[in-house]
Amino acid sequence: MMKFVLVLLILMCFESLPNVMTQSSSNKEAKALDVILQQYAYKALVNPKTGTIYNATKLPSNLTGIEVAALRLRSGSLRRKGFHMYNEFDIPNGVIVHPYVERLVFVYQNLGNKLSKKYYPLPNYTYLAPVLGLLAYDASNLSATNLSELGINASGDNILVKFRDVKSPPSGTVARCVWFDLQGSSNFSNVKGGNTCSTSQQGHFSIVMVKSTSPFVPNPRGEVLCINKYKQKKKMQGMERAADSGETLQMASIGDTKAPAATVTRTQPTLEHEYAP
Ligand SMILES: *[C@@H]1O[C@H](CO)[C@@H](O)[C@H](O)[C@H]1NC(C)=O
Ligand SMILES: *[C@@H]1O[C@H](CO)[C@@H](O)[C@H](O)[C@H]1NC(C)=O
Ligand SMILES: *[C@@H]1O[C@H](CO)[C@@H](O)[C@H](O)[C@H]1NC(C)=O
Ligand SMILES: *[C@@H]1O[C@H](CO)[C@@H](O)[C@H](O)[C@H]1NC(C)=O
Ligand SMILES: *[C@@H]1O[C@H](CO)[C@@H](O)[C@H](O)[C@H]1NC(C)=O
Ligand SMILES: *[C@@H]1O[C@H](CO)[C@@H](O)[C@H](O)[C@H]1NC(C)=O
Ligand SMILES: *[C@@H]1O[C@H](CO)[C@@H](O)[C@H](O)[C@H]1NC(C)=O
Repeated sequence: MMKFVLVLLILMCFESLPNVMTQSSSNKEAKALDVILQQYAYKALVNPKTGTIYNATKLPSNLTGIEVAALRLRSGSLRRKGFHMYNEFDIPNGVIVHPYVERLVFVYQNLGNKLSKKYYPLPNYTYLAPVLGLLAYDASNLSATNLSELGINASGDNILVKFRDVKSPPSGTVARCVWFDLQGSSNFSNVKGGNTCSTSQQGHFSIVMVKSTSPFVPNPRGEVLCINKYKQKKKMQGMERAADSGETLQMASIGDTKAPAATVTRTQPTLEHEYAP
């Protein structure tokens, strides 16, 4: 009886897992968005002063909530001095641009809370901050569209991303920095000082936590819990004891909902091992 219930719970959990294939199609949308936002950012650069931040205005209504800016710099000045601060980005000296261009434009994107998860869906995670983008382009023709990004590399200190208004994760949950490179691959790293991520390259950045509806959510006591949409089936509460297996099912509270939890002390997954790719 007990074993059957556990198998059933596990099956139901895996059935509710999101489709991983969504990642690649949304990457195309995200790349198309980069192209559109580069255009709007460049439009903001009318007789621009080098080293001044220009906000893009008049974004179409379907992009409401997105903030875009453009910053033109000489690559020599970028390398010698960096730029402190470009909105949330603190760009140190030592940042190298390749191939060489005399001037570049850094396009800044803030996708806001609503569109971040649309363009950068991360099935097992919840965003605690909006997705921010920093992308480098050649500044030689400010009317140019559909530009490819330049390569940039922080050869000394890393570029820091100091997020404003990071939602605090519930206790027992660890916040992680996520970086999407230009191909849309995600990489995770630790958050520093509660709101700061660090990178040597460009791309899109945010702070996330493991979604609480993931099938196995380790709690601080190391119990393995299964919670999902089936948790509302309160009759599970009747299974506190399973006489045939000798294992004890405990009721564990998650928010206002109770879910049955087997005490499995031999496996104590951490967020790091289970969820960081
Ligand atoms: C540009 O937008 C940023 C927010 O992204 C804001 O803090 C800043 O005041 C704006 N600058 C101007 C000149 O409107
Ligand atoms: C926004 O709407 C315009 C038409 O008004 C469309 O051409 C464009 O593809 C849409 N952009 C996005 C990102 O959905
Ligand atoms: C989500 O988590 C499941 C279970 O750990 C894993 O198999 C899957 O690859 C994850 N999906 C993504 C996109 O990371
Ligand atoms: C700049 O780009 C625009 C749009 O692609 C093009 O029409 C124009 O000829 C380019 N100007 C120069 C000087 O290359
Ligand atoms: C934009 O550039 C890419 C290659 O960088 C090309 O495949 C694509 O067709 C271009 N799109 C437009 C609308 O010119
Ligand atoms: C970036 O610079 C560092 C230090 O100079 C170098 O080791 C690394 O290979 C460079 N990375 C790229 C992608 O160019
Ligand atoms: C991304 O993460 C993987 C796995 O943690 C790591 O091997 C790889 O070097 C990272 N890539 C970069 C560019 O940091």
